[in-house]
Amino acid sequence: MQALGNKKILLGITGGIAAYKSAELVRLLIKAGAEVRVVMTPSAQEFVQPLTYQALSGHRVYVDLFDAEADSAMDHIELARWCDLLLVAPASADFLGKMNAGYADNLLLTLCLASKRPVAVAPAMNQQMFANSATQENLKQLAARDVRVWGPAEGDQACGDFGPGRMLEPEQLLANVALQFVPGKLDGVQLLLTAGPTREAIDPVRYISNRSSGKMGYALAEAALQAGARVTLVSGPVSLVAPPGAKLVAVESAQQMYEAVMQQVAHSDIFIGCAAVSDYRVDQVATHKLKKSENSMSLPLILNVDILAAVSALENKPFCVGFAAETQNLEKYALAKLEQKNLDMIAANPVGNADSGFETDTNQLEVFWRDGHHSIERDNKLAIAKQLIDLIVERYTCARS
Ligand code: C5P
Repeated sequence: MQALGNKKILLGITGGIAAYKSAELVRLLIKAGAEVRVVMTPSAQEFVQPLTYQALSGHRVYVDLFDAEADSAMDHIELARWCDLLLVAPASADFLGKMNAGYADNLLLTLCLASKRPVAVAPAMNQQMFANSATQENLKQLAARDVRVWGPAEGDQACGDFGPGRMLEPEQLLANVALQFVPGKLDGVQLLLTAGPTREAIDPVRYISNRSSGKMGYALAEAALQAGARVTLVSGPVSLVAPPGAKLVAVESAQQMYEAVMQQVAHSDIFIGCAAVSDYRVDQVATHKLKKSENSMSLPLILNVDILAAVSALENKPFCVGFAAETQNLEKYALAKLEQKNLDMIAANPVGNADSGFETDTNQLEVFWRDGHHSIERDNKLAIAKQLIDLIVERYTCARS
């Protein structure tokens, strides 16, 4: 297997009995074509001598910060920049705790802080230490910061215990490393996406909006990023964190969303209109808070621009995907929108049920294009998003060929 040809892997080794397995990992990575540099923490050296990894990797092993600084060819910043992936295997409980807290009191911790490259950890420790809520919290927070957590496996432990805490086998770690470099289905593709509701001001304190949570749009942004796309997310006000890697443009009103989309669209290959854009806005926004006086009042509304229709009317239009949230006649309305807005694809979801559509964690979709249809069954929104991205990839590739 040469899946890792020319890939640069920085392998960090911390203090744990599994350090001996990492010698085999170095051998496997090199056999797969990778270039490997090894960094050891001081306690890792209590388990295995640096010479072992030096012999296997064909390069000096970095063991302390000042040692790396003394190497003018590769100081710690250079090392952090050099790699395509930084993998810490084994990663001890102590190391994970310090890494989560942002410590930098040894070379490997410093590299974890200094590297912009993907970082993966393969935890290895006693099962009780793994189960401890401190370790669990550390892993959860690291994962939330996009550190890939690989393992641990369950089984017999060196201390005589049985349970989760064994480092994944070198073959499994090699497979995980290789997976990081499988080209994404949307590599090099620029994807622009609207998400969330819009807010149309009535006066300085009131607005008209809708029940969109933004969850579906944010899940789509995440799924597109995972497929390798460069993602720009134009989002109305939501209480979600944009997936790391997405370029977020935060807006409030439909008009601001329109302007942001028009600014970004020229370089986009795919546009997904997932936002629940307010169809109307208040004609005259009051400068001061409206006071109650009459028994009834009316607010003249005017139609907002249809962002999706405007994008699909562009001369060099991207591949356009719309959403249709309907409480009835799903297929009929979806097909009409596909036609009227000149879309390449439309994803229709029933709203008004407790378990799909707005403000829910699950959804289901009926997806239509000119000569086809596919149902995506009820699931959580990220799973739904991944399936929709797969369909978009299929149709987008077809449309371009
Ligand atoms: O016509 P309707 O509002 O049902 O169409 C929904 C689709 O159109 C969604 O993809 C939505 O994001 C998009 N849309 C838009 N601008 C509007 C209204 C809807 O982009 N003003």
